[in-house]
Amino acid sequence: MKLEALTENQRWLLSFYRTSEISGALFFGRLAKSLPPGPIQTDLTKHFADESQHSWYWTRCLQNLGVEPIKLETAYQDQYISAAGMPANIMEVLGITLVFEKRVIGQYALHRQAKDLHPEIKSTLDLIVEDEKWHIEWVTQALKNMEAEYGKDHIDKTLKNFSDADKEVYQKTVKEHEERISGILKF
Ligand SMILES: [Fe+2]
Ligand SMILES: [Fe+2]
Repeated sequence: MKLEALTENQRWLLSFYRTSEISGALFFGRLAKSLPPGPIQTDLTKHFADESQHSWYWTRCLQNLGVEPIKLETAYQDQYISAAGMPANIMEVLGITLVFEKRVIGQYALHRQAKDLHPEIKSTLDLIVEDEKWHIEWVTQALKNMEAEYGKDHIDKTLKNFSDADKEVYQKTVKEHEERISGILKF
């Protein structure tokens, strides 16, 4: 396989991932700082450390491919709050997190199937996806543990609302950047 240089659109997409990982790290980092001791504080601290690493992995990946990351103003999650509303408690925070993490892993899986995927991008995706699996796992378990307090139906309903909001944001994002990504990913 002949390895082509990174196109400007590929550079943009990897930079978009990098920016979203940074936004995730900052969000979970702030949360980890504000929580009292306990299992959620522990897991969120590890979670935030992972997202920081992911932004570094994309930075390194771009540089290994001979380009610098583009400085982008917005991240994928930026429209979440306006679409879904501000999470009102820790259950809702974890709910929106679970929906977001599933989106991330789905997006990375989609990218993994891209035609002529560069090995550098492939190995970065594989590295990150391992962590993202754990993110989904621990948040799913934490939400399960909250069923006694919040009620299973209420939690399911919250997840459904956030999931609808996520679909809206994703479709909007794909549409907005269609020109850049349609040549790379097949939806
Ligand atoms: Fe991540
Ligand atoms: Fe994650």
